Amino acid sequence: MVMKLDKVVPFGRSLDEYIKMFDLSTEDLQQRILGMGDGPASFNAEGTTKGYDITSIDPIYQFDGAEIKQRFDKVVDNIIDQIIATPNNWVWSYHKNPQELKASRIKTLETFLQDYQLGKEAGRYQAQELPHLDFADQSYDLALCSHFLFLYSEQCDRDFHVNAIAEMLRVSQEVRIFPLLTLMQETSPYLDFVIDKFSNLGYSVVIAKVPYELQPGANEMLVIRAK
Ligand SMILES: C[S@@+](CC[C@H](N)C(=O)[O-])C[C@H]1O[C@@H](n2cnc3c(N)ncnc32)[C@H](O)[C@@H]1O
Repeated sequence: MVMKLDKVVPFGRSLDEYIKMFDLSTEDLQQRILGMGDGPASFNAEGTTKGYDITSIDPIYQFDGAEIKQRFDKVVDNIIDQIIATPNNWVWSYHKNPQELKASRIKTLETFLQDYQLGKEAGRYQAQELPHLDFADQSYDLALCSHFLFLYSEQCDRDFHVNAIAEMLRVSQEVRIFPLLTLMQETSPYLDFVIDKFSNLGYSVVIAKVPYELQPGANEMLVIRAK
């Protein structure tokens, strides 16, 4: 697994954001959850303190906490400046303004880092990467993929998306992906193909509205599950 940390934006989201992005119910949160590309999100750290069963995979977990923090510190101001320069590209309902967003991302990173070494030793953070996972068939109930598939449609092609989703469905009964827009704020060019492909394979495939929106129009998730 070769990953260059200087190609990654290690921005992570909180448990509350995951709950909203994936419309997670109390019952959903009691399931065996696999977070795909969780990076420095605090979903796992916060969820674990509440007794949830969450495993996160990300190639970034081959690096140590100091390296991830160093990368975050290097890019954070530049990214917030880009956000400030493009006010119409953002919806300030959950986060109220760019400074609050920055504070939230810093808090999330700190919560992740406090848990990272312990979680690694417990096997909750595993350095793995799509489209191949080192888990037995159906070892999870719910696989969540936030801000990776569809968002990075320019970097990951259509075959990658199909293979990654098929792999998630091999290890988990249900898959949820958010958002469905690319970094250019357009619906992913692979969305229709993915919907047709997995519908034709006999899965239930549904687009569902969620109570979270930071990119305008990015308030839907894709839910794929065995019928
Ligand atoms: C924008 S971050 C999203 C982090 C987290 N999911 C969240 O929403 O807060 C995208 C993540 O995808 C990870 N990633 C990159 N390539 C991947 C792959 N092949 N499989 C799984 N994750 C990958 C990156 O390392 C990074 O942590």
